[in-house]
Amino acid sequence: AAIIERTFHVGNLTIRRLCQTRVITAVNGRLPGPKLDVHEGDTVVVHVINDSPYDMTIHWHGVFQRLTPWSDGPNMITQCPIQPGNSYTYRFNVTGQEGTLWWHAHVSFLRATVYGALIIRPRGGAKSYPFPKPDKEATILLGEWWNDNIVDVDNRAFLTGQGPSISDAFTINGKPGDLYNCSNDEIYKLQVEAGKTYMLRIINAALNNQLFFKVAGHSFTVVAVDASYTNPYKTDVIVIAPGQTVDALMAAEAPPAKYYMASRQYNSISFPPPPFDNTTTRGVVEYASAPASSRPTMPLMPPFNDTATAHRFYSNLTSLLRPGRPTVPLHVDTSMFVTFGLGRTTCQPGQLLCNRTQGAVAASMNNVSFAFPTEMSLLEAHFNNVKGIYTRDFPDKPPVFFDFTNPAVNSDNALAPLLFTQKGTKAKKLKYNSTVEMVLQNTAILAAESHPMHLHGYDFYVLAQGFGNYDNAKARECFNLVDPQKRNTIAVPTGGWAVIRFTADNPGVWIMHCHLDPHLTIGLAMVFEVENGPTPDATIPPPLFGQPLGLGLGMIVDF
Ligand code: C2O
Repeated sequence: AAIIERTFHVGNLTIRRLCQTRVITAVNGRLPGPKLDVHEGDTVVVHVINDSPYDMTIHWHGVFQRLTPWSDGPNMITQCPIQPGNSYTYRFNVTGQEGTLWWHAHVSFLRATVYGALIIRPRGGAKSYPFPKPDKEATILLGEWWNDNIVDVDNRAFLTGQGPSISDAFTINGKPGDLYNCSNDEIYKLQVEAGKTYMLRIINAALNNQLFFKVAGHSFTVVAVDASYTNPYKTDVIVIAPGQTVDALMAAEAPPAKYYMASRQYNSISFPPPPFDNTTTRGVVEYASAPASSRPTMPLMPPFNDTATAHRFYSNLTSLLRPGRPTVPLHVDTSMFVTFGLGRTTCQPGQLLCNRTQGAVAASMNNVSFAFPTEMSLLEAHFNNVKGIYTRDFPDKPPVFFDFTNPAVNSDNALAPLLFTQKGTKAKKLKYNSTVEMVLQNTAILAAESHPMHLHGYDFYVLAQGFGNYDNAKARECFNLVDPQKRNTIAVPTGGWAVIRFTADNPGVWIMHCHLDPHLTIGLAMVFEVENGPTPDATIPPPLFGQPLGLGLGMIVDF
């Protein structure tokens, strides 16, 4: 295994998009930021030097961070932000996981432009893939672009409680594509050779949107999601929620020509009707032998609210079983039933669109709207046993059970039992190595929406998912306890539920939250506090603060 050491300079980048010159926050002057390309078992050391005007942290989305919770990155959960002019070193290993992950800022909405791919290859290289070795590969980072300064967008979202204004464009590898103004040259091109197979590593880095992705004239075989191998799944459309990744094989077997790849929103908000972004970003797949005059053809995209297509994709995936690898825990120590969605909370000073009867829009889990600590990170409070920063009373179930998915209990009906949420910084404490089952139930109190729920520090198995109110007896009959898909982010169906399981074998404080960023801002989060195990190799070491800069910037050492 090697030590891969890199420096991320976070700073201003002047860039032209959609007919305007803008200053954005970016890493090493690039959008998307640099790709980290490592092998399973490597140690990754990244020195983040914050020359931007904003507080910064970086999260390595999907990396377990086993015994390195100090390197996880969520602001005020595992660290205080890196202030302008300061630096911080993240050090972690990528053992026991391989595939496509990514990294992004985990403070404010800054991940809109501070993100990049993190690729973990098998130790043995491409010949160790559990599928026919692709000839080539390409990373496809799907994102969103705002003409406005993203921190202003965030502040406005908080002030109004209405979420961010819709973005000005979707992007592929930072480029909006030729359906947007002045973007004819800002279009991603993938050159392919006829007869070769390409592995597309697709990452949804959008702030606020699930996406459909297609390539005209081509279909895919999905071989992994969220850096876990799947049984090969054939499809002509990829559905991907913010935070998720999909590795898909695409054979360049169409007549040599040019084809658009395209991505647009999947938005299933059923109530109230959404303000949605129906624009489309596209790139081009160009065969080397395509006639110069060939005009690309456009794939037929699903309608933006095509829940059936989304559900088919999301629910048909299964894990590839591999000898000697962990499988789903069959025994459950801790069962939780967790409702989540939008509600209201009392106004805070300075908030607009906020009145005494309606309050401000808030989001919650089991009616607790997560409040980020302000004095110290939760991990630091946990590690040093500091009282008063958080409490350990995150409830195992909601305060009342009712028809969670019925819009009749929605919005301004004062009787809606979960309408008003409580603010709190509450953790759920877990014993080391205990197994947890969570029923994740979406609510339709203000709006029925599909929330992509992301757990830090772990992958989890998705045993089942469906629509309506969770029915335990019925659902249990269709649990997949053989080869359930393994993920770090699950798009819980609109007006529906999902059941996940994981083993709490990674001590630390780990946030679980909705990966639609505006929902995180207004409290759609909770934390797990996982106790140390009985041995030193299951005990969190002290933080690495103040450590020397390591082996020299940018050096790669092979062991
Ligand atoms: Cu990719 Cu807590 O996020």
